[in-house]
Amino acid sequence: TTGSDYSVIDDQLIGSIFIPRQEFSHKGTYGKAVIVGGSYGKIGAAVLATRSALKTGAGLTFTLAPECGYDILQLSCPEAMFIKGGDTFIFNFETDKDVTCGVGPGLGTHSGTEKSFLSFLKSHSQPLVLDADALNIISKDQKNLKLIPKKSIITPHPKEFERLFGNTDNSFKRLELARKKAKELNLYIILKDHHTQIITPHGKVFYNITGNAGLAKGGSGDILTGILTSLLAQKYSEEETCILGVWLHGRAADVASEKHSKESMLPTDVIDALGTVFEELN
Ligand code: APR
Ligand code: MG
Repeated sequence: TTGSDYSVIDDQLIGSIFIPRQEFSHKGTYGKAVIVGGSYGKIGAAVLATRSALKTGAGLTFTLAPECGYDILQLSCPEAMFIKGGDTFIFNFETDKDVTCGVGPGLGTHSGTEKSFLSFLKSHSQPLVLDADALNIISKDQKNLKLIPKKSIITPHPKEFERLFGNTDNSFKRLELARKKAKELNLYIILKDHHTQIITPHGKVFYNITGNAGLAKGGSGDILTGILTSLLAQKYSEEETCILGVWLHGRAADVASEKHSKESMLPTDVIDALGTVFEELN
C-alpha cells in the first residue's frame, strides 16, 4: 500500500475526464443506455434512474420494466423507449449487445426476476452497472459474485456492501475488504456514504467530497445508477465513469440544496440540477 493509492476527486481531475459535446455528432455518438428496474409499487425508482440517464446525455435511453410501469414511464420519461419485461415484475432480461445496462432500481427480488437476472448475468459479458435489488439478489449466494461481468460497476450502500461481502468492525476495514474484493472479482466498487469511495480493481481509492445530507432520502441512489449507466454508454472508461458520475451526482445535489434547502430538495431536484452542473463544466 502506498499513499498515492488514495486520492480526493478534485476539479482538475474532473476537468481532465469530462468531454464536451461535439458539434459534428448524432445520437449514435452517445451510446445506448438501458435502465433495468421497477416492479409493482416501485416504478418510481425506474423513472428516477431513466430521467437521470437522459439528463446525463446518453444518445438513446431505454427502460426495461414490467408492463404495469408502461403508462407511468411513457408519461414521465417521453424521451425514453419502453421494453416490456413482465406483468408486475421483470422476468425477461433480453437486451442486445451494443447497449449498456444499469440494473437494480426498484427491481424487487421476486423469484421470477431473480431467475432471469441470474441467467442474464451468465450470458452477458459487457460491464454492467449494478445497484439495489440486483445486488440483493446476488447476495443470496456467494457463488453469484463470480457471475458479475468483469469491470462492472457495483454501487452498494453500507448495508448492501455487508450483504455482499460480510460485516466489518469499522469503515477502514470495510474499505480494505472492498479493495480486496475489487481486485479478486475485477470490479469497480462505489461504496456509497457521506464521502463516497470508489475502489478500482487495481487497488486505487478515490474519495468524493461533493454531495450533502439532502441526499439522505429514498431515490438518491437511483439517480446515481442512471448517471453512471449514461456515462458508461457514452464510452467513458469504467474508472472515468465512476469518478465523473459520483462527482456529478454530488455536485448536482449541492446545486439543488442551494435552491431548495437540504430538507426540501428531492431527488427530482437533483436530476433537474444536472443541467447547471454541465453548464459549469462546459
Ligand atoms: N451525505 C452525502 N451523500 C449522501 C448522504 C449524506 N448524508 N446520505 C446519502 N447520500 C448519498 C449516498 O452517497 C448515495 O449516493 O445518496 C445516495 C443514497 O443511495 P442509497 O443508499 O442507495 O439510497 P436510495 O436512493 O434510497 O436507494 C433506493 O435502493 O438501496 C435500495 O434499499 C434501498 O430501496 C432503497 C432503494
Ligand atoms: Mg439504493
